[in-house]
Amino acid sequence: MKQLIFLCATMALSLFGSCSSEKEQAVNETKSPSFDEVLLSRRSIRSYDATKKITEAEVRELLKATQEAPSWANQQPTKYYVAISQEKLEAVQELVGEKNKSRIANAPVLILSTFEKGKSGFFQGNQTNEIGDGWGAYDNGLSNCYLILKARAMGFDSLIMGMRDSEQLRKLFGVPENETIMAVIALGYRAEEPTYPNRRDLDEIAKFF
Ligand SMILES: Cc1cc2nc3c(=O)[nH]c(=O)nc-3n(C[C@H](O)[C@H](O)[C@H](O)COP(=O)(O)O)c2cc1C
Repeated sequence: MKQLIFLCATMALSLFGSCSSEKEQAVNETKSPSFDEVLLSRRSIRSYDATKKITEAEVRELLKATQEAPSWANQQPTKYYVAISQEKLEAVQELVGEKNKSRIANAPVLILSTFEKGKSGFFQGNQTNEIGDGWGAYDNGLSNCYLILKARAMGFDSLIMGMRDSEQLRKLFGVPENETIMAVIALGYRAEEPTYPNRRDLDEIAKFF
C-alpha cells in the first residue's frame, strides 16, 4: 500500500512538473526580449525570408515607437514613406543600387526616411549654431534608431541603406523639396544568421576625464 501511495505521489508530481515547465516555456516564447537582447541580436540583414510578411498594422506600431524619440525643441522633423505594395516595393528596389537590390529582394517593407529642413537647429528661421540642418539629420538618425530597435523587439530585421538614388525616390514618393532624403530602411525577417562585424575597442572611441 505504501508503495502504491509513493508511486501515485511521484506520478502526480512529475505530471505537475511537466505542466509547469510547459507553461514556463510558453511564457518564455511570448515574452519580449530584454533591451540587451534587442541590441545584440540586431544586425544589418542582407538576406530576407520571402515567405514572411509584415502587415501595415505592424508597421504603424513600429512607426508609433519612433515618435517617442527625442528631437531638437520637439520639432519632430522626421518623415517616413512606406512601400508595402508589390508595385512600390519593386520600384524602390530599383533605386538602391545593384548590391543593395539583391540584398533586399525579399524584404516585405521598404521605408524611405526624410527630415524637414529648417526645423531642428533653427529658432525663428535662424540657424542656432554651426551645425544647422545637421541637427535635422541627427534627429532623423535618432528616430531611425528607435525604428530599427523596435523592429528587432517585434521580431523583425532591418537594413539601413545610405546608397540610394535620392532624386528618383523623391519623384517616386512625391517628397516635397523642403525635405532632405536620408536612408531607405528594409524590414523583414532574416533568411540566414549574419556574421558579427567587429567593433573598435571602447578606449578608442571614449575618453574619460
Ligand atoms: C547611415 C548608414 C548607411 C548604411 N548603408 C548601407 C548600405 O547602403 N548597404 C548596406 O548593405 N549596409 C549599409 N549600412 C549598414 C552598415 O554597413 C552596418 O550597420 C555596419 O556594417 C555594422 O553592422 P551591423 O549593423 O550588423 O552591426 C548602413 C548603415 C548606416 C548606419
